[in-house]
Amino acid sequence: MSKETFDPTIYNPSTNKPISKVLEVELSRRGMLKRTAVVSAFAALASAGLTGCRDDETTSEVPDLRLGFESIPGAKEDAVAVPEGYKADILAPWGTPINDQANVWKNDGSNTSVDQLNAMGMHHDGMHFFPLNNAADEGLLCVNHEYIDQSALHPNGATEGIRPAEEVRKEINAHGVSVIHIKVVNNQWELVTGSRYNRRITSATEIDVAGPIAESPLNLLLTRYTATKNNANIARGTNNNCGNGYTPWGTYLTCEENWPNYFTRNDGAPTADQKRLGISDDGTRYGWETPVDASGEFSRFNITPSGKDASDDFRNEANGHGYIVEIDPYEPSSKAIKRTALGRFRHEDCTFGNVEKNKPVVFYSGHDGRFEYMYKFVSEALWDPADSNPNDRLAIGSKYMDKGTLYVAQFNEAGAGRWLALTPQNTTRDGRLLGDIEGFKTLAEVLLNTPGAADLMGATPMDRPEWTAVDPTDGTVYVTLTNNTKRNNSDDATENDTNVANPRDNNEFGHIIRWTENADHQSFNWEFFLFGAPAASSSDINRSALNASNELASPDGLAFDPRGILWIQTDNSADEVEENTNDQMLAIIPSQLNQANSNEPVVNAGNQEQLRRFFVGPNGSEVTGLAFSPDYTSFFVNIQHPANWPSSEVATVKTIGEVRPRSSTVVIRRIDGGKIGV
Ligand code: FEO
Ligand code: CA
Ligand code: CA
Ligand code: CA
Repeated sequence: MSKETFDPTIYNPSTNKPISKVLEVELSRRGMLKRTAVVSAFAALASAGLTGCRDDETTSEVPDLRLGFESIPGAKEDAVAVPEGYKADILAPWGTPINDQANVWKNDGSNTSVDQLNAMGMHHDGMHFFPLNNAADEGLLCVNHEYIDQSALHPNGATEGIRPAEEVRKEINAHGVSVIHIKVVNNQWELVTGSRYNRRITSATEIDVAGPIAESPLNLLLTRYTATKNNANIARGTNNNCGNGYTPWGTYLTCEENWPNYFTRNDGAPTADQKRLGISDDGTRYGWETPVDASGEFSRFNITPSGKDASDDFRNEANGHGYIVEIDPYEPSSKAIKRTALGRFRHEDCTFGNVEKNKPVVFYSGHDGRFEYMYKFVSEALWDPADSNPNDRLAIGSKYMDKGTLYVAQFNEAGAGRWLALTPQNTTRDGRLLGDIEGFKTLAEVLLNTPGAADLMGATPMDRPEWTAVDPTDGTVYVTLTNNTKRNNSDDATENDTNVANPRDNNEFGHIIRWTENADHQSFNWEFFLFGAPAASSSDINRSALNASNELASPDGLAFDPRGILWIQTDNSADEVEENTNDQMLAIIPSQLNQANSNEPVVNAGNQEQLRRFFVGPNGSEVTGLAFSPDYTSFFVNIQHPANWPSSEVATVKTIGEVRPRSSTVVIRRIDGGKIGV
């Protein structure tokens, strides 16, 4: 989500104050994290045949891992930049046909909505590579399509006012997820057009809904559409699919982020959850509710009550959105499933904690909004390693993702933190039983208004939680806090004030926090990992002592590869860094950092050379989404909303003149065919 389109409204009306107001951050918690015994992901990879399945069952030596490239300079070109010895190729740009139902992409915007339904969507974001037959050169790539650029999508941009149905259908079909079969042919990755695995899930595709909201007797998903179906627990479409996750059992997770902007309610009487989550009273983001329509294809985006009850209108349509959505890429005929137990909010991404036999499966997910919260879900079922390679993956998803407890994080001083359970049985910060409060009487209602419940429990308002990542070597959890220019330390003691975990006033550049879990699942220990900043800023801003070789702002995408290299991607919003470089991807190996004993973040003047810039995106773009081939010889990175790129199959070629911009996956490989990053 770029700076141009992020919804700046603050929806958190709570007065969750910092535990104590901290004017100058107290950073003396280095070395506080007790990291668990080192385990390796390699054996688990081999046994499960999955990329990056992290299973603590297996233990082996950690290889001597070192970054094997030099930091590259910042760049501001209509081209990508990679280190010497590397190459970067375009794969599956927006509009690439995935089957024979689509015409080839035309550079005048004239492809139809049917073409778009059978072609790659727009604005690529999170993604994951699923190997086929344990191969490193053939697999399924799941790619999120977060939102659209109407001026590139249509011949002459969007029609204003009442939108033509065909335009809206094309926009709906440009959103969602692509599952594509890719393989190496003649030493190049190619999309296997027409493969039985290829499919699109769009903002109109029927998706099952599971978990407490689906099971509630309150009929929270009842609409004029679901009333006509045998199974009322369905939602139409997935919206604003930003970051992603995957599961230890081999499915893909796509995360619904700024979905409230796709609905509108204009009777001035929003429900508490609609208000808290930010559903507009002033029309939808792209006017999808406007085409003349008796069927509900478009009018469903207007959730204003208009009929005799919920079975007669679309007042509940938005209740089917705001979730983690599970997709089985290996079963093209299977429906996707929305997992409501993981909460309903603007999910950035979803990452599982390292799994251990007979322990719950844990998922982390941040709510990307200013002053919003960090969440984790703990499964009721305990992990059975036999589930890493099941016959029915979505049934295993139901086992671990439909029953469990959702928690929200409270960051306290001295590096301590607590997880606050979001259940009707828990006690709010003012001493009430949550289930005694109107709107939170049942678990389904709590989940429907997840952030409203989190307000009542006393969660810590954060600087826009984006991606999470878990170190495969020791289970440490990381989250990017991208920025928050409304963080404002004044005397009036509101949630806008700085707090222990969000210490910078007017946090333009963002930071990364990490923590380790305690065995009780109720508490954790945290510390600052990295502060983004321009190299040319004072030490109270540039707390990680970044220099020209690694300055960054607005950390967003974040992923460990299974070796333990952490990759950090940026969605820049700060002019001071943008002057020197476009958005980028950097690498660091947290387990190799010197153990300092200073009052500094983990990345500091003593080791910042270990944070190295690996990749720079083209002008205007955001670098987001990361996937790896299992042998680490191919990395897949997404370029979202470039300004004037690509003009060649080779991503490093600079555009001459003007092209219709296309979000694309970029495949990074070493010229010598070796492993990436080392
Ligand atoms: Fe879609 Fe928060 O990035
Ligand atoms: Ca972002
Ligand atoms: Ca993002
Ligand atoms: Ca204040």
